[in-house]
Amino acid sequence: MTTPTPSKPQPDAPQAQLSSAAASANGRVPARAAAPALDVSATARAYAADAPLSLDEAPAAMEARNLNLHYGTKQALKNVSARLSRGSITALIGPSGCGKSTFLRCLNRMNDLIEGCKIEGEVFLEEQNIYARGVDVVKLRQRVGMVFQKPNPFPMSIFDNIAYGPRLRGIKKREQLAEIVEHSLQGAALWNEVKDDLKKSALALSGGQQQRLCIARALATRPEVILMDEPASALDPISTLKIEELMRELRQEYTIVIVTHNMQQAARCSDFTGFFLLGELVEVGASSKIFTDPGDKRTEDYITGRFG
Ligand SMILES: Nc1ncnc2c1ncn2[C@@H]1O[C@H](COP(=O)(O)OP(=O)(O)OP(=O)(O)O)[C@@H](O)[C@H]1O
Ligand SMILES: [Mg+2]
Repeated sequence: MTTPTPSKPQPDAPQAQLSSAAASANGRVPARAAAPALDVSATARAYAADAPLSLDEAPAAMEARNLNLHYGTKQALKNVSARLSRGSITALIGPSGCGKSTFLRCLNRMNDLIEGCKIEGEVFLEEQNIYARGVDVVKLRQRVGMVFQKPNPFPMSIFDNIAYGPRLRGIKKREQLAEIVEHSLQGAALWNEVKDDLKKSALALSGGQQQRLCIARALATRPEVILMDEPASALDPISTLKIEELMRELRQEYTIVIVTHNMQQAARCSDFTGFFLLGELVEVGASSKIFTDPGDKRTEDYITGRFG
């Protein structure tokens, strides 16, 4: 843990482009509160220069409006609204059980698979409400890909893992598949490590390699949005850095949403950060602002390690 240093206000920090329906006027942080126990603000400042600039007019790749979600009688999301800016990385943080994964799964309808789960509200992918009648969920999940916390390669070769989605889309020609496989593995920074072993079982790869394989598999369907649920939590620091570098490269072409418990990681690699607490999206905005000058006392308490 670094020596506590008071964060400085960031007058030139970009304004939040993501809206939070739940952002409350009460509990706003006073001009500068006590010294934080955990200083992620320096990391956020170091990377802020690289973040996309402001905001309100930036086009949204996805937008959730007034999402309420119940598992049986338990409400896991409370009136969550957020815009996810195209071509950016948005990190979702918050204590365990606050609804981060639930929200992420709403973005490609993975919660549909859970019995007793009831969802109200709307989620737009570009112009389309993905919860509208008649939406093809398989196509939706090709456009909005997902990478899970635990790498889940299929029990087949590296090549067949990556070619799986394209084959489902009807691509059969070997040369075309080979091109997609190479391109996707390069995109996921894995090509050089596996190019001579494409027929090898994906299960024989290391954990970090398996995670990059899963990212390559997601890339192979040419998604617009990639959802990542704690993709580096089980990885060593070097593999973690590789995944982070990869995310920053991918954000040129994709919209990325990542759940992480690692606030240094959120500050290092995301453009925007949303803070969840007890099913509510308390606050969402430019990471450089959230980690240096959050608007809500609850966010401040969380990022400074006072609770959670
Ligand atoms: N399939 C499910 N059935 C019933 N309740 C669930 C289910 N999945 C999640 N929940 C509940 O919904 C709430 C939010 O869970 P969620 O997994 O979204 O939290 P999270 O923020 O991702 O937590 P973590 O950081 O531990 O992964 C929790 O109270 C959890 O117990
Ligand atoms: Mg989770």
